[in-house]
Amino acid sequence: MIAFSENEVREALLPHGLLDAHAYFMANNPSAHLPYHNLYHANTVILHCHDGAMEMGLGRKETRSLLLGAMFHDFAHSGGNRTDDENIAAAVSGLESWCRKSGAPPGLLEGARRIVRITRFPHLDRPASLAEEIIRDADLMQIYAPEWQKQILGGLRRELCISEGREIGIIEMIALQLKFMEGVNWYTSWAKRKAEAKWESLIGEIRLIGESLCPVSG
Ligand SMILES: [Fe+2]
Repeated sequence: MIAFSENEVREALLPHGLLDAHAYFMANNPSAHLPYHNLYHANTVILHCHDGAMEMGLGRKETRSLLLGAMFHDFAHSGGNRTDDENIAAAVSGLESWCRKSGAPPGLLEGARRIVRITRFPHLDRPASLAEEIIRDADLMQIYAPEWQKQILGGLRRELCISEGREIGIIEMIALQLKFMEGVNWYTSWAKRKAEAKWESLIGEIRLIGESLCPVSG
């Protein structure tokens, strides 16, 4: 069971020699305090990728690239001020900076770069490897983290208001989130198993929040 503490993130990264990368990431990420694409989101995705890699039996080298890519996948995100192609370019550039500074092997950089690029949203390409499938699933699992209401209904909504240039109220956000959740297609058996256990009850929770804000009469 994931507790979503920074300690847990460090424990996941330690065996892969990625503690220095994480310290650099935490200290230098310009989007650290965004409403949604913040450190909490990055750490959640790292932990879910770690969980997915373990359950799916991903190889050691691939897991290292996956975790590094997960860490940087939203580095320097614009929070709705730029296109996602620009966000991805900024994330890749942050990843490259750390790899240059640390003398990371070219194979690690190349693998992590592919992980970052496959998270481009809306999704364009199908994942081409198990590691890419895991990050695509993991990036959609914010709702499994304890602070999901603040992250999604508050933070993601604020970033969407910026990208769409209009106000998005809580009722509309709940409708958007429900539409998203009802349309998700998971790639891995790991993600499908998790969804079977939790997805419907989380949909029910969101519906209840909506009904409490906008009671059905009669
Ligand atoms: Fe993300």
